[in-house]
Amino acid sequence: MMRSRASRQLSIWIWCCACLLAMGNAEAQTTLRALAKTKGKLVGTSLSSNYIDNPASMPSGYQSTLANEFNVYVAENSFKMSELLPNAPANPFDIQISDLSTAKIDIMVARARENGVGMIRGHALIWHTQAPSWLTTSAPGWTADQITAFATSYIKAVVTYCKTINDAVDAPVRIYEWDVINETIDKSKARAKKRARGSAAKSSIEYRTGTWYDGVADRQAFIDAIFRAARNADPNLRLVYNDYGIEFYGSPKCNFMLNMVGGMVSRGVPIDGVGLQCHFIGPDPSGAGGFSSSDARKFEQTFAALRALGLDGIVTEFDLRLQTDSTTIEGNVTSQQLALQGDQYRLIVATALSQPNCPALVLWGFTDAHSWIPWACPGYGHALPFDRSYAKKPAYEGITTAIKALPTVEENKASSLTTTLPTVSAMTFGQALSNSTLSGGEGSVPGSFAFETLKEFL
Ligand code: XIL
Repeated sequence: MMRSRASRQLSIWIWCCACLLAMGNAEAQTTLRALAKTKGKLVGTSLSSNYIDNPASMPSGYQSTLANEFNVYVAENSFKMSELLPNAPANPFDIQISDLSTAKIDIMVARARENGVGMIRGHALIWHTQAPSWLTTSAPGWTADQITAFATSYIKAVVTYCKTINDAVDAPVRIYEWDVINETIDKSKARAKKRARGSAAKSSIEYRTGTWYDGVADRQAFIDAIFRAARNADPNLRLVYNDYGIEFYGSPKCNFMLNMVGGMVSRGVPIDGVGLQCHFIGPDPSGAGGFSSSDARKFEQTFAALRALGLDGIVTEFDLRLQTDSTTIEGNVTSQQLALQGDQYRLIVATALSQPNCPALVLWGFTDAHSWIPWACPGYGHALPFDRSYAKKPAYEGITTAIKALPTVEENKASSLTTTLPTVSAMTFGQALSNSTLSGGEGSVPGSFAFETLKEFL
C-alpha cells in the first residue's frame, strides 16, 4: 500500500516535471513579438532597402525571421528624404503629395501587411544627410523663411500621405510615429578646430552645422515649427526627436538634448518622445569593456529625466558591435565576446523596457548578414542577435530573458493603480492602438500600454 502510494506520488512528480519542461520548451520556442505582446511592449527591426524594393530577392531566412520575430518595422533607408523627394519639385516652398515618391511608403506598408505587422515607425523627416542632391545644391541659396517653408511643407505632404494610409479602414497598418528631426545636436566644430590647434578648449555641444538647413539661424524656432507642422498634419501621430550619443544621463550631449526637449515641452511644442539610437560597442577580443552596469544606471536616469518631462524614451536603432579580427566584413569574433554580448544585450533590453516610458525597442537590422556596422565602422561587426545564417546568437537569448522578466500587461495595470500617471503631451499609445483598425491575434499590435489604457478609464 505504502509502496503504491509512493510510486503514485513519484509518477505525479514526474508528470509535473514533464509538464514544466514542456512549458519551458514552449516558452523557449516563442518569438520575440509573442513575448513582447504579453508585456505590452513593441520589439522591432529596420528593413534593408534591397528587400523592401525587391522582395523576390529576400532570402527565406530573412523573410521568416522578419515575419515571426518583430511587431514593428522601420525602413532602414526608404523613408529618408533622398528616397521620398528625389527630384526637384516645381515649387520647393510648397511641397505637394504629388511631388513625393510615395511608392516607397506603399511598398513598406505592403511588406508589413504581408507579414501581419501593424506598426511602422517613420524615419526620418528632416536629416542633414541622405538628403536629395538637388536640395543640398539649392538650399544654401535660400533664406531662413524659405528653408522653413520647404521643411514644413515637406513634412505636411509626407504626414498627410501617411495619414490616408492610417485612416483607411481596409489597411490594418499604422505609421504611428515619425522621427521629425534626426541628429541635429553635434560636437562644437569651432571647439574641435581649436583643440586640433592644441588649445585646451573643452568639448562642447551645439546645434549641428554643415547642414542644408544651416541658413536657419534660430535653430530652436525651426525645430518648433517642424514639430508643429507634423502635429497639424496629423494630430494622432507620435512625434519624436532622434539622435545618437544621448543615451547616458550626465553627458554633455544628453544634457543638451534634455534642455532642448524640455524647452519644447515648456513652450507647448508637440513632442511625444526622444529616440535613443543605442548604437553601442560591446566587449573587445580580450573580453573587456562594453556596456557596463554603471552605463545601465546612466541609461536608466535618462529615461527618468524624460519621464519627468512627460516624454517617452524609445530605443530606435539598437545594435551592439564587436571588434573583429579583421577590417573586412568577414572578420571573426571570439565565443567569449558573443557570450558577453548576450549578457550585455540582456542588460540593455531589461534596462530600457522596464522603464514605464519605454514602449518600444527597435533593432537596426536583425541579422549580421545585413548590418550597416562593417561599412560604417570597419573592424567591427557581429552586432545583431541573428548570425549570417539566421541562427540565434546569445544576444537573442539576452533579449528573450530580459522580456520574460518584465511584468505582464495585467501586472502593470494593477501596480499603476497605485502610482502617479505620467503626463503625456499628445496622443498616447493606448489611444493609438484602440483607435486603430487592427484586428487581434499574432499579426496585430500588442495590447495597449497599461498606464495609458488605465488613463482612459480613470
Ligand atoms: C544608415 C543605414 O543603416 C545605412 O544603410 C545608410 O547607408 C546610412 O544610414 N543613424 C541613423 C540611421 O539615424 O538612419 C543610419 O542608417 C545609421 C545611423
